Amino acid sequence: MDTGNLPELGDEVRSENPFREGNEFGEFNAQAAKIGESAYAGNCAACHGIRAMSGGLTPDLRELTEWDDEYYIGRVMNGTDRGMPSWKKSMDQNAMWAIRTYVESLAKPE
Ligand code: HEC
Repeated sequence: MDTGNLPELGDEVRSENPFREGNEFGEFNAQAAKIGESAYAGNCAACHGIRAMSGGLTPDLRELTEWDDEYYIGRVMNGTDRGMPSWKKSMDQNAMWAIRTYVESLAKPE
C-alpha cells in the first residue's frame, strides 16, 4: 500500500497513534487522514461500514478513544477468531495508524 510521504515507522509496534496532533508526527495528521481514508475504504469499509458507520454488525470504530490505541493496533495486527482478519502480513504500521487517524477525523456517532 502506498503511504505517500509519511515518515517510516519501522517494525517496532507503537502503542500510540504517532500521527495524532501533539504526538511525534502530529504535523502529518492531515496527510495521514487522507491516506487512511482510501486505505479504510479499500480494506475495512466492507465490514465496518462506509465512513465507519458500522450499522451494528461489527464494532463502530468511531467509538474508540485515544486511550484505545494499543487495543486498536493489537486488533488490526492480530485480528480475532470472531471475524476480524489479521493485517500484519498485508499492511504496514504506517497504513494502520493512517486508518486510525482517518477514523479519528470523523464525527463521533450520535
Ligand atoms: C471481514 C470483515 C472485517 C474486515 C475486512 C475488517 N474487520 Fe475489523 N472487525 C471485524 C469483526 C467481526 C470485529 C469484531 C471481532 C470480535 O469481536 O472479536 C472487528 C473488530 C475490529 C476492531 C476492534 C474494535 C472493538 O471495538 O472491539 C478493530 C480496531 C478493527 N476491527 C479494525 C479494523 C480495521 C482497521 C480494518 C481494515 C484494515 C478492519 N477492521 C477490517 C470484521 C472485519
